[in-house]
Amino acid sequence: MRACVTGGAGFIGSHLVERLAGDGWSVCVLDDLSSGRAENVAAAPGAELIVGDVRDPAAIRSAAKGADVVFHLAALASVQRSLEHPHEVIDVNMGGTLAVLEAARAQGVRRVVLASSSSIYGDTPTLPKCERMPIAPRSPYAASKAGAEALMHAYRRTFGLETAILRFFNVYGPRQPHGSRYAGAIPIFLSACLDDRPCTLYGDGEQTRDFTYVEDVVDAVVRAASAEGTAVAEPINIGAGQRHPLRELLALIERVGGRPLRLTRAPARAGDVRDSEADAGRARSVLGWQPTIGLERGLERTAAALRCGDQAVGPSS
Ligand code: NAD
Ligand code: UD1
Repeated sequence: MRACVTGGAGFIGSHLVERLAGDGWSVCVLDDLSSGRAENVAAAPGAELIVGDVRDPAAIRSAAKGADVVFHLAALASVQRSLEHPHEVIDVNMGGTLAVLEAARAQGVRRVVLASSSSIYGDTPTLPKCERMPIAPRSPYAASKAGAEALMHAYRRTFGLETAILRFFNVYGPRQPHGSRYAGAIPIFLSACLDDRPCTLYGDGEQTRDFTYVEDVVDAVVRAASAEGTAVAEPINIGAGQRHPLRELLALIERVGGRPLRLTRAPARAGDVRDSEADAGRARSVLGWQPTIGLERGLERTAAALRCGDQAVGPSS
């Protein structure tokens, strides 16, 4: 089996590439290295890296050539960045998905798997979030994922391309970038704790997230590549199924990191979702997927990797 992984030099993508290579797939990565790192791909024996923009038709055509499955993870993944640079985020996330689908169609790729996001549920009151609920994006980032999902449906309906849409909840683990203000909460807080640096809590700390360990997420992605086609065409939540208030996360980080956080308070950020929790029933029934790593164990593994320097620092902008 041959795979093309867009965004394969990034955090989740590089874990996926490692897993696919270990399972015997031949893997080609397309990544512009804007937040990913070439070293992340080098960790997977035999994986080829093409450095280029996913929106460039020639680059994605060459990366997808001969692929059975394209795993489309390349995106600008920050809600905050999308509020500051909405055009850029819509352009990369939606334009990138369109370019991937066009290349997949031209190259006779069997299936495209999309990394979508739980952020598309927005702030609707019902928890946990289940896939049948209406979506209500609050940020250009969330809207870009809703648009990417719509493109996937259109290409499946019109061209018969097999598609799988996975809505990841907050993913964390080793190699997640922590050096940018667009980085995720766990890498920011955990690295600040280990290095005894200040960090900022936006909002009252009562906002909740369903933190999901990267290896569990990758397992779901691999299952989505081979599951029965019609079953995966509709979106599937990939989340551990437990919501944790941020104040609880911070306490756990202090325990794992072995020192108190140097925390500053700031108002909640615009576009921020208040609560997030996955109903993972469809992932269980359609993919046979079960998360295996709880938050404290996942944080310990992430901290161990950070202490060893096994981390991307990411862009400083
Ligand atoms: P990441 O930033 O580590 O990975 C994204 C990768 O895409 C990077 O390697 C980056 O260099 C690459 N990239 C960005 N723009 C590109 C372009 N124009 N052309 C080619 N490559 C480009 O982020 P991640 O957390 O690993 O996210 C991977 C995917 O999962 C994204 O689609 C993201 O939206 C989605 N997702 C992530 C989370 C999470 O909690 N991390 C949750 C839901 C969905
Ligand atoms: C994250 C992902 C997004 C994904 C979504 C799925 C990143 C950067 N974002 O967005 O790709 O689609 O999950 O649900 O990986 N916070 C602080 N201080 C900080 C950083 C964050 O208080 O320094 C707060 C935020 O305001 C937010 C919470 O922590 O309330 C989580 O933020 P973040 O990790 O950026 O995640 P999401 O916005 O949920």
